[in-house]
Amino acid sequence: MIWTLADLGDQTGRTFAVTGATSGLGRETALQLALAGGRVILAGRSPEKIKATADAIHRQSPKAELESLVVDLADLASVRRAAARSVRLGAIDVLVNNAGVMATPHQRTADGLDLQMATNHFGPFLFTGLLLPQLVATGAGRVVMVSSAMHHLARSAPLGDPRDASGPYRRWPVYAQTKLANLLTTFELQRRSDAEGLGLQALAAHPGYSATNLLSYGQTMRQGGPLASVFDATARATAQSAAMGALPILMAATADLPGGTFCGPSGFRELRGLPHIVTPSRLARSGNAQRAMWRLSEETVGLRWP
Ligand SMILES: NC(=O)c1ccc[n+]([C@@H]2O[C@H](COP(=O)([O-])OP(=O)(O)OC[C@H]3O[C@@H](n4cnc5c(N)ncnc54)[C@H](OP(=O)(O)O)[C@@H]3O)[C@@H](O)[C@H]2O)c1
Repeated sequence: MIWTLADLGDQTGRTFAVTGATSGLGRETALQLALAGGRVILAGRSPEKIKATADAIHRQSPKAELESLVVDLADLASVRRAAARSVRLGAIDVLVNNAGVMATPHQRTADGLDLQMATNHFGPFLFTGLLLPQLVATGAGRVVMVSSAMHHLARSAPLGDPRDASGPYRRWPVYAQTKLANLLTTFELQRRSDAEGLGLQALAAHPGYSATNLLSYGQTMRQGGPLASVFDATARATAQSAAMGALPILMAATADLPGGTFCGPSGFRELRGLPHIVTPSRLARSGNAQRAMWRLSEETVGLRWP
């Protein structure tokens, strides 16, 4: 089944929370959901960038119903504060865990975690757990984790002590492991929701290779500047557009699909093209790894759920 934007349909009456809505794939996802009539919670770490994103969406869709939620996913205390503030926003039909960083230099967060693991996995894990009551409140909540085809490169799940910084840091393998963790979490969440009768659906998506700020930010840790422009130009010349990359995410967020479905581009090596259902790596499908990743994540963020 190939999915196109024409399949998005009317999303009026539904609420979507999109993390990393201030750039790249998240911004495109938020825009299309708003154009389709959905109420969209723009979650991001910068209030200024959230406002700029909301203004840009309102220019295209003056009646768009937008909310803002400031959250730094690399900071567990910020995630807890954001989740507490989000209660006033009511039930959430779909949470899109899209925010992420790629191959950043070695850096530890305030919680003593690797920046990539914190931003891409532990923060979203805690955020989702704390938003669970709002997701369950709809009776059919959905969680979409934005992973990557690079999860195939992860040789093992990141199951060591996440606060142990003594080993060598290899930025690309760590990124692949964070994206594997996204898939392990998706499948274990689906299993746990089924076991508890929560009625949740957990799906995953990956955007292939899409022109966004991901590469430049990871390599420079800056928004803009001459070096970042070179990376951005390279991405624009070689990758599909962010609008195309958002399609698998939109498919996972809205299509009538069973929990546990993984959506990605249908073109050569899943790098580009219209989305369809793709296959996760064997490791991502390992029940043992899924359970172990969940237990480690619960211990790390200090929240047992569901
Ligand atoms: N582009 C690709 O080819 C590709 C391929 C595979 C997977 N992905 C995945 O797609 C997702 C979106 O990335 P993108 O390509 O759209 O990159 P992007 O343009 O760099 O956007 C990343 C978004 O994440 C936000 N973010 C980063 N750190 C954050 C933090 N600590 N707290 C809250 N938000 C944070 C950024 O906020 P700011 O705007 O404030 O920086 C931005 O909104 C990521 O999970 C990435 O791993 C992308």
